[in-house]
Amino acid sequence: MSITSPQKEKKISLSGAIQISKHSFLVFKDSLGKIFLNMDKDEKLHKSVVQNMIKSNPLIQKILRRYHIKPLINIKTLKELTGGHMNDTCNIAMGVYSILSEGIKNQVDMDTLKEASMLHDLGKVLIPSKILNKPAKLNMKERKIMNIHSTLGYELLKTQNLPDETLALIKYHHQNLKHSGYPALSSENTSADLGVQIISIADKYSALRERRVYRRKLSRLDALLVLYKEVREGKILPAVYNALLKYAELYDVA
Ligand SMILES: [Fe+2]
Ligand SMILES: [Fe+2]
Repeated sequence: MSITSPQKEKKISLSGAIQISKHSFLVFKDSLGKIFLNMDKDEKLHKSVVQNMIKSNPLIQKILRRYHIKPLINIKTLKELTGGHMNDTCNIAMGVYSILSEGIKNQVDMDTLKEASMLHDLGKVLIPSKILNKPAKLNMKERKIMNIHSTLGYELLKTQNLPDETLALIKYHHQNLKHSGYPALSSENTSADLGVQIISIADKYSALRERRVYRRKLSRLDALLVLYKEVREGKILPAVYNALLKYAELYDVA
């Protein structure tokens, strides 16, 4: 007599992100250990992992319903983000971090910063592409939807056993020193800390240096001038901005 054991369902969850020679990869974990998945070959698997994240957090479904967004995962967006903007933001954040003085560096955990910057915009996979890729300025309603991407990213990744510090950086990567960014800071998290400052400046610089459907790519100088305005408004620490200036001078030579 033979006994057939029930087929175990292969469970794969996201356990972080890593960089291999300047390219970022999402790292997944199955029952056998850690694996890296190549976006080009494993689109279906990536999609099912994100789908599981949605299923395991009812708050995500609640947010999507509130904004009348269908729970559809845009795998093309995920592919573009991991291969482009999130990877780029991570490189800039690491560059800025390496230039900062030791006194400031000691207040930031490099590994947390690295992982959070590689995952910071994951929530965009749930933003409808007609909003994400609108070739014009977003109206108020669309802007509100766009702005929930950082909360969605946080809620998606909260289901994946990532450290709280990494999750906080992802949630608040659009915050600033004046606390005028989004989402609003909770009473127990009242400061936009240095990690947020570094991710935020790297994110903005990366975005300004890319061509977007609604605007041309900005030159190095123009991008730095846009961000200097934020220093004058008290949103960015001068020390963090100065490190970006140096980074741009040294490494952004394109
Ligand atoms: Fe973002
Ligand atoms: Fe971003």
